[in-house]
Amino acid sequence: MTQKILALPGNDVFAARLAEQLDAEQLAAEFRSFPDGESYVRIDGDWQGAEVLLVATLDRPDSKFLPMALAAQTLRVHGAARVTLVAPYLGYMRQDKAFHPGEAISAPIFARLVSSVVDELVTVDPHLHRIDALGEVYSIPSINVHAAPALAAWIAERVADPLLVGPDVESKQWVSAVARESGAPYVALEKVRRGDRDVEVSVPHLKDYAGRTPVIVDDIVSTARTMIETVRHLRALGAPAPVCVGVHAIFAGDAYAELQKAGASTIATTNTIPHPSNDIDVAPLIAAALS
Ligand code: R5P
Repeated sequence: MTQKILALPGNDVFAARLAEQLDAEQLAAEFRSFPDGESYVRIDGDWQGAEVLLVATLDRPDSKFLPMALAAQTLRVHGAARVTLVAPYLGYMRQDKAFHPGEAISAPIFARLVSSVVDELVTVDPHLHRIDALGEVYSIPSINVHAAPALAAWIAERVADPLLVGPDVESKQWVSAVARESGAPYVALEKVRRGDRDVEVSVPHLKDYAGRTPVIVDDIVSTARTMIETVRHLRALGAPAPVCVGVHAIFAGDAYAELQKAGASTIATTNTIPHPSNDIDVAPLIAAALS
């Protein structure tokens, strides 16, 4: 089936990478707000009978979901054979249970909304913690692309004798996959989060890894408190300045500057969310999954 690509605002660079990799034509569109704040969408071109790859990374998703849904429905109504949402970052995966009475469990609620407007979902390393697989909450087919090969290649090229450090139990799935790909040793720490910015990470045992450069690997960097606490422990133990590698560069508020200030030597992320720290391209991995 012919593939066409439509980028939502802010996704042009990633969509262009995909178009190049898949040799697919891009559709042009106008996205804007009416004076009352409601969204306006108009799509140009011909997508009759095509699979349309709607590229919309879903960090800060509240303002992105509705234009995405309007575009998806417009594509469907005007003849798309299938609308595939390519969301390199998939938001609303962390609130997967009620931690306090009366809280919205947003992961399955958001999943139902997304499943109602597109036919398929492709994403990169969604935050799977208490949810084991996307199929538990998404009712549409989904592909989970793993960034581990790209992270491992970046680390192999940039860091001599790395020691991979996963800052919490969840990170073990990513850090162990990167370790397998790169042949580097890893340690996984334990974390307690008491609030959005109140995080305690256990102290790593480094005695078997003298001379190695710590590389902290995590899926999401949001407030960066997790990475900052881990950097502080490593520095206090006399380790070389750590390299920080994240899949999804959310960097809320001044998190990026704070992490730099804490003593990270290099901060590198993938391009699932546009950010100055992006240095690892996952578009080829997504293109391979889509072709
Ligand atoms: C949480 O369990 C994730 O794997 C990350 O460790 C977390 O999202 C990082 O958040 P923050 O940057 O706010 O500490």
